[in-house]
Amino acid sequence: MKKVLTLAALMLAVSACTGQQAEPQAKPVNVASLAGDSQITDVRPADAMPTYPKRGMSIERNYIEQPPLIPHRDDYTIGLNQNKCMTCHSWDKAEKMKATPVAKSHVVNAQGKLNGQNYFCTQCHVAQADNKQAIVENVFSTK
Ligand code: HEC
Ligand code: HEC
Repeated sequence: MKKVLTLAALMLAVSACTGQQAEPQAKPVNVASLAGDSQITDVRPADAMPTYPKRGMSIERNYIEQPPLIPHRDDYTIGLNQNKCMTCHSWDKAEKMKATPVAKSHVVNAQGKLNGQNYFCTQCHVAQADNKQAIVENVFSTK
């Protein structure tokens, strides 16, 4: 009996779900963004992949105390258990990886233990990429 009741309840639940019909002709949602207005329902070609400056080369700094720009992709995981940036930029690995070790200001001891305030690298450092499409006009100047 119990089984039959459970089955009945299950079927009821299933029919309740399928009973909800999606609106046949959903109204398109318009999104106004800096990249232009487009409808969410619009299908458009994928963006061109960005290219980064020559691998292994740092970018000249424009002003004192500037967090140097990242000359490579910046989507390495920075999470609770790991900071992938440190696989190349930590004091003990940087030389082998031909990368600049994190600045003295980023560490708390002579072994190069990272300062908590400098954990989220991309809070200050930004990658430079040729995105092949103008998204937002940028007139930033250091002068
Ligand atoms: C696979 C190794 C590797 C990983 C992972 C990596 N980098 Fe780099 N990074 C390099 C190399 C090589 C350079 C170029 C040499 C240099 O300038 O240090 C570089 C350059 C940089 C520079 C410029 C340094 C300067 O003095 O101009 C910054 C800033 C930087 N990386 C930040 C990051 C951040 C933030 C992450 C994580 C999102 C990261 N890197 C992950 C290898 C790596
Ligand atoms: C709060 C902002 C901030 C955060 C977060 C931060 N940095 Fe920096 N970083 C700077 C500034 C500012 C400089 C340049 C001045 C200096 O050397 O302290 C710098 C310098 C550097 C340099 C160049 C060092 C040198 O000797 O030329 C590297 C490499 C670097 N950071 C990597 C990283 C990595 C990797 C992380 C994450 C683990 C990180 N930074 C997090 C602000 C930051």
